[in-house]
Amino acid sequence: MDNKWYKDICVYQIWPRSFCDGNGDGIGDLEGVYSKLDYIKDLGVDCIWFSPLYPSPNADFGYDIADYKNIHPEYGDLELFKKVLDGAHERGIKVIMDLVVNHTSDECDWFQKSRRRIEPYTDYYIWRKGRDGGKKPPNNWLSMFEGGAWEYDEVRGEYYLHVFAKKQPDLNHDNPKVREEVKEIMKFWLDMGVDGFREDVITFISKKEGLPNGFPIPSACGMEHYINGPHIHEYLKEYREVAKQYDCFCVGEAPMMTPETALKYITEGENQELDLMFHFQHMEADCIMMDFIHVPFSLIRMKKAFTRWQNMLKGKAWNTLYIENHDHPRIISRYGSEAYRTESGKMLAAMYMLQQGTPFIYQGQEIGMTNISLPDLDMYEDVFVKNNYNVFKKIFGKKRCEHLARISTRDNARTPVQWTGGENAGFTTGKPWFYINPNYKEVNAEKEMSDPHSLLNFYKKLIRFRKENEIVLKGDYKEYYENSKNLYVYERTYNNQRMLVICSFTEKGVAFEAPKGYDLSKGVKVLGNYESEHICGNGFKTRPYEMRVYMF
Ligand code: GLC
Repeated sequence: MDNKWYKDICVYQIWPRSFCDGNGDGIGDLEGVYSKLDYIKDLGVDCIWFSPLYPSPNADFGYDIADYKNIHPEYGDLELFKKVLDGAHERGIKVIMDLVVNHTSDECDWFQKSRRRIEPYTDYYIWRKGRDGGKKPPNNWLSMFEGGAWEYDEVRGEYYLHVFAKKQPDLNHDNPKVREEVKEIMKFWLDMGVDGFREDVITFISKKEGLPNGFPIPSACGMEHYINGPHIHEYLKEYREVAKQYDCFCVGEAPMMTPETALKYITEGENQELDLMFHFQHMEADCIMMDFIHVPFSLIRMKKAFTRWQNMLKGKAWNTLYIENHDHPRIISRYGSEAYRTESGKMLAAMYMLQQGTPFIYQGQEIGMTNISLPDLDMYEDVFVKNNYNVFKKIFGKKRCEHLARISTRDNARTPVQWTGGENAGFTTGKPWFYINPNYKEVNAEKEMSDPHSLLNFYKKLIRFRKENEIVLKGDYKEYYENSKNLYVYERTYNNQRMLVICSFTEKGVAFEAPKGYDLSKGVKVLGNYESEHICGNGFKTRPYEMRVYMF
């Protein structure tokens, strides 16, 4: 292992619209972020990842960018951004930006010129004539967010491809001018002083020549022709050349990624294209079809994913550790228990953060925010869930789909951060842009700060623990009791040290017996989510969502 700095950090993700409102207009902004830099510092993290801050019509809340080299007026301006960047750097906190270049907004100047065939923008997007004399779209692809993946544009008289929403036309990376634009965007922010990028659905940017029909599935049909497409490695190597000129790191988002394929992107050395990669496998232990269809949580499925990635990347590439972000419902509501919010929150935190890799924490995760349930589906904002609801209603019926929409919507993670038990949860002095979870009096940062046994204080302890114990960074990983449906047990070993992590995913009491070669009475319990420690023989009966970490 070398000493690349991104391996030894903990990243905090900010989804700016819901983080903190500094000017009272009900929308989170950079002034709000600035006011919370000490909070972020105090948490112990070393880096902030900003979800898009750029001007955007917000069809997909910033992931539809209209101007890549500016800040959305709702959030502030470039000067204010610089102030936040400097403020973070002064506190020893790095900052990475979201680089969303698979698509732009249809309101981006490039698209407006492209539809009018104004050079050099004519081929910036993926334009095609329709089939059957133009009446039918060019192929059968379906978008992830909104019906068919092609939209007819009256102005140009052709269809454009949008793998996501209609307002998110896909860029044509086969055009070298587009790739130059991407490099310019990277340089613009890196020259300003940012420390890297999270690259949005970056594995989608190269589409198969000829755009053949896809395998017919109800959503995202055609994806086999653009995920890890034919020129992906070539293009990413070009972008890598820019990154290499700076002391920065890039983490790519990669839906449907397997560790075998990931290694083609992130294996360390000359040919490396990305430093880190967000895969989704461990986030699919209670759902299929891109999160919408829920199935009972399977701990075995989740463990398999974590273990495979730990083992496959070992010594070759570096893992990215996360259990929440702006695209997934809150983890306590999914894999933990709202009834045991603090206990399960601590267990989940230790479970993923004690593995090898760079951990990411999503705003509100550290204070144990949970899902929201709104009475009327019209109250939700998420374009993704609206599409899925319409697609799957025909298959599963209205009632079931309403339920699925509520539990799977990304809005669960996008409610304003609950800072206090006061008005609007301390998020804004105005009218919040979105609903605040009614549990804010119980669940809020202020309360968490004042309670030494809170989840927030546990996160701080855990982050410190990672820094103070090299075994977390460098140790080998081994899983025990792979077939247990309730317990996730793994060890880390480094030099002469052994660390045993025991996590229960149930409120039931489960008899845990230490694996062969361990004598629990000789271990030191270094972390846990219950005060007292009972050992019975060489094991114990777990309490609800109990977690214990022993060092030997
Ligand atoms: C990524 C983003 C998500 C967005 C999508 C399209 O998955 O994380 O929020 O909707 O890409 O840009």
